[in-house]
Parts: sequence; structure tokens; C-alpha cells
Amino acid sequence: MKVSVIGAGNVGATCADAIAFRSIASEVVLLDIRENFAEGKALDMMQTATLNQFNTKIVGSTNDYGKTANSDVVVITSGVPRKPGMTREELIGINAGIVKGVTDNVLKHSPNAVIVIVANPMDTMTYLALKESKLPKNRIIGMGGILDSARFKCYLSMALNASANDIEGMVIGGHGDTTMIPLTRMASYKGVPVSQFLAADALKKVAADTMIGGATLTSMLGTSAWYAPGAAVASLVDSILNDQKRLFPCCVALDGEYGQKDICLGVPVTIGKNGWKKIVDVNLNDDEKAAFAKSADAVRNMNNVLSAAV
Ligand code: NAI
Ligand code: 2OP
Repeated sequence: MKVSVIGAGNVGATCADAIAFRSIASEVVLLDIRENFAEGKALDMMQTATLNQFNTKIVGSTNDYGKTANSDVVVITSGVPRKPGMTREELIGINAGIVKGVTDNVLKHSPNAVIVIVANPMDTMTYLALKESKLPKNRIIGMGGILDSARFKCYLSMALNASANDIEGMVIGGHGDTTMIPLTRMASYKGVPVSQFLAADALKKVAADTMIGGATLTSMLGTSAWYAPGAAVASLVDSILNDQKRLFPCCVALDGEYGQKDICLGVPVTIGKNGWKKIVDVNLNDDEKAAFAKSADAVRNMNNVLSAAV
């Protein structure tokens, strides 16, 4: 199976590395516009093959989409990342142009690929890719909720002083500091609601820390994070290529589900061979429904800004 990753920067390279390290695909192509940059990253990664014991072939390319031909999955990370103080939404103009051009190029060579959108503002970029490509909606997936959920579980594990692997939890809605919705009520520690172990104010703090999780790292690193984003993309790609039918919160086109239409937003979906398969309807309470509607309004406003930007 072949995966192409467009953008060999922090997230793209980390994602390619995780895909090879976990032996998810037989070939990974890394493509970037920077001369020789993707080739250098690919060669460096190939030199870890004997150390990390994988057989995945990693190929670098400077903007030659011929090398990406017949990919099963294409991950689009090409775009400008956040700098301290910036929101994901401020990236819209420049990243929209990049995502539009890249999507066109990718589909010329891999007309059957599942497209994974990572570039920010991710919900709007996913909507753009859907409209631009005219692909069946199941083949366009935005990655944000898997990362936000990983951060949620990390903060919960720290608050509980427990292993993150014993925590379950999900973040739905938009991938933005004010639009994401950590589903605290449904989070569990080995199946037991976390509210049995943490007081309401501690849970509120976990949710707040999760929502600004990306901004916290951006202020520490001077650019946005890459280890968890890259690992999150690899998990998504694994479920697609190996038809695992994992249930992940992902940004997909809604057509009435969760009360929304003509928008791409994070909801729980099963992920398999041809992209996302089924949106799972979770019973939200009134507060959660209101938060979801508010999140949709904010993302819809951003989509309207996009129409003006491209
Ligand atoms: P980066 O700056 O390290 O890498 C971006 C790469 O894209 C650069 O190497 C650049 O040369 C390349 N690029 C730019 N235009 C291109 C084009 N037309 N074709 C091919 N390559 C092109 O940025 P980083 O940290 O990897 O972030 C990438 C994007 O992912 C940003 O928009 C960032 O905000 C977003 N992001 C999204 C996350 C999510 O959960 N959805 C998580 C983390 C980052
Ligand atoms: C993140 O959540 C900025 O979307 C990027 O780290």
C-alpha cells in the first residue's frame, strides 16, 4: 500500500516516520516544494530502516507529483503553521491557495486516493478540499479530533495520576481553541466515568487545557506541535489502509447528522478501506448540543471567509 505525504515539514515528516516505523505501508512518498528537502528527509528516514527494523520504502520528491502516482492515501500537511499568538484561523488565505493547488495535483495522479487534510484551519480546509475535488464525501477526512482526543486523554491521565492507556475520551466539534468540545461527561477511567474520581473544577480545567492544547505548545515551541499530530495522522492512515474500522472523531461532511448540513466538522466516525464509513450518533445532552451548534456556526463563518479568500 502506498501513502503520499504532501509537505515534508514538521508534521509531514513525523507522520511519514511514524507510518514507516509502524510498518503501516509498503511505500511512503514525501513531497515538498523546497528543493531537495523531502529527498533529504526521506534519505535520513531510510537510514533508520535497519535500526528500527522496517521495510517501508521512503521516497522524497521536490514537487514531482508523478512520484505520488497511485497512492492509496494522500495526507496534505503543506501549509503555514501557527506562530505564537496566532489562531489556526489566521492561516486561511495562504493555506487555502496551497491546499487547493495540492488537491488538484494529487488527484491527477491518484484519482482513487483517500485524502486526509491536516493543514489549518483544518475544518475549513477539509470543506475546501471536498468542494474542490468533488470526490465522494467518504474519501475526504480532516484530522484534528484524534489529536485533540489524545491531548484530552493526556491531561486526564495527569489529573488522575493514571496511565493514559487506561483513559477513554473524545473531543468533537471544530479543531479550534474555542470550537472543540471535550466530551468530559463521557470520558472514563477503565470504563468508570472520570467524574467519580475528579471534582467538577478539576474536570473543567482538563477541558480548558485540552482546548488550548495546541496554543500552549505553540507558545513553548515557537511553531505548532508535530509529534502528536504526526502520530495521530499515522493512526488514521493505519485504520484506512488496514480497514480497521476504528472509531475516531474526524472532520467529515455532515448532511443532517448532528443537526448540521453543508459543513465539515468533527464527529465520531468509523474509518476503513475507502475512507470514513459511518457517522456514529452519540446522544449529546442539551449543553453539548448547544456547544456543537456554536462550533458549527464558527466553522461556517470561517468557510464564508474562505469563499472570499480564494
Ligand atoms: P512546516 O512549516 O514545518 O511544514 C510545512 C511544509 O509544507 C514546508 O516544508 C513547506 O515547504 C511545505 N509546503 C508549503 N507549500 C507547499 C506546496 N504548495 N506544496 C508542497 N509543500 C508545500 O509546518 P508544520 O508544522 O508541518 O504544519 C503544517 C500544517 O499543519 C500547518 O498548517 C499547521 O497549522 C497544521 N497542523 C495541523 C494539525 C491538525 O491537527 N490538523 C496539527 C499540527 C499542525
Ligand atoms: C495543533 O493543534 C496547531 O492544529 C495545530 O497543534
